[in-house]
Amino acid sequence: MDDLSIDFISGAVDHRRRFGGGRGQALARAVGMKGGATPDVVDATAGLGRDAFLLATLGARVTLIERAPTVHAALARAIARAGEVEETKAIVARMTLLQGDARALLPGLAPDVVLVDPMHPPRRTRALVKQQMRLLRELVGQDDDAAELMQVALECARKRVVLKWPRKAEPMPGIPAPSHQIVGKSTRYDVFMRG
Ligand SMILES: C[S@@+](CC[C@H](N)C(=O)[O-])C[C@H]1O[C@@H](n2cnc3c(N)ncnc32)[C@H](O)[C@@H]1O
Repeated sequence: MDDLSIDFISGAVDHRRRFGGGRGQALARAVGMKGGATPDVVDATAGLGRDAFLLATLGARVTLIERAPTVHAALARAIARAGEVEETKAIVARMTLLQGDARALLPGLAPDVVLVDPMHPPRRTRALVKQQMRLLRELVGQDDDAAELMQVALECARKRVVLKWPRKAEPMPGIPAPSHQIVGKSTRYDVFMRG
């Protein structure tokens, strides 16, 4: 198997940092970046770190949780590399990476906002992203316990939980209806307001 390599300095992630549309983007709105507000976010499913990096680019402090050791190690290397580059070092300084299962770690973090993005069924994406997502899928499988993670997130988050999910997917079984949705081209964000 190829190595999973994560790159915050060049390629698609860098492009999104420079031309991505700022706080108007669906993810930024979903976590509550509105009217100058910049919430602290716990990304309970860090994966390739793209969402966390984007939120940190927009000024949020982000705690990333990843349970797969190989994926965690690739993230740690990417964060360290980006910490040595002028354009990205202030961004990754806002990112804190933890290894473990978010179901166990979330209660101790008392988070305001939790982002949950479990593995989705395959979908069409640009070639590079597709290759990385294929590798990630080989490494971590299907995240069949995503509903359980959502339950824990809903219990722990003080302000909101955001579930990133394919646009046309059925609601997750056993999870209440979201407060609202932000629907993009292929992805939707189900937002559950708390408190
Ligand atoms: C679809 S990927 C997330 C992609 C990420 N949002 C990004 O922007 O790159 C899902 C990741 O969450 C991790 N994961 C799933 N359930 C988890 C849990 N309960 N605790 C920690 N990590 C989890 C998986 O190992 C996988 O790496």
